[in-house]
Amino acid sequence: MRSIVLANQKGGVGKTTTAIHLAHGCALAGRRVLLMDLDPQGNATVAVQGMQAEDATSPREWMVPVAERLWILPSTGGEAARSGEATLDTDRLATVVGELEGEIDLLVADCPPRMDEWGWAGVQLCEEVIVPVQAEFFSMHGLSQMLESLEVAASQFPGKGRLRGVLPTMVDSDEPISQEVLDDLRANLGDSLLRSIIFRDSCLVEAASHGKSVFVHSPWSKGALCYTELVQEIIHG
Ligand SMILES: Nc1ncnc2c1ncn2[C@@H]1O[C@H](COP(=O)(O)OP(=O)(O)OP(=O)(O)O)[C@@H](O)[C@H]1O
Ligand SMILES: [Mg+2]
Repeated sequence: MRSIVLANQKGGVGKTTTAIHLAHGCALAGRRVLLMDLDPQGNATVAVQGMQAEDATSPREWMVPVAERLWILPSTGGEAARSGEATLDTDRLATVVGELEGEIDLLVADCPPRMDEWGWAGVQLCEEVIVPVQAEFFSMHGLSQMLESLEVAASQFPGKGRLRGVLPTMVDSDEPISQEVLDDLRANLGDSLLRSIIFRDSCLVEAASHGKSVFVHSPWSKGALCYTELVQEIIHG
């Protein structure tokens, strides 16, 4: 079972959008996928609630079917997070996930915008880390902090938290700064930068507001194309 976490301490960089589309894209490509919403805000949980699984069976009762071969472990979410009652037992989560070996092919975890206990749990549970970075002026600064945190994680949790790659998101071909940031990322990161680029596309926002992935909501959109490329890169290397 492969496991990939979307992590970045910076907020609003496309972690949740990428987690949903990597998970659903891999399910569409034939993999059995569990999307784990580790953000007490529960954005991923809400963003797939308009999707329907035709075959609504689950290997475990806590796995909520989202689409064919795709399940979600919903966030403890809403009320609990607001009242400060959202709790996390990382060891139990690791045991529960370990028991899924052979029943799912891929675990995709979405993290909150900070390396708190939930963010660390994602890195501790998953072997590979994708760091989405918004193509904007301050992106390099936040990124070096994040990569330092990952080095600490990799030393604390052997076999986990290996950087799979940095993913440029919300790239706008009409904005010169986007191209500058891309050049900067290429120069600084080399092979640690994924080949895929996620361009800005309002279809991704619309899809989320309808509780669907863009593959369902607007399958021929730029956003769907970008995330299809990412899925291919992650599956085939
Ligand atoms: N490629 C894109 N084009 C246009 N809008 C996007 C794109 N990716 C994400 N968005 C939008 O940007 C906002 C932030 O994205 P998202 O929620 O995925 O980021 P996040 O890193 O998970 O945020 P948070 O840190 O709050 O959890 C959302 O409204 C989302 O729909
Ligand atoms: Mg999010």
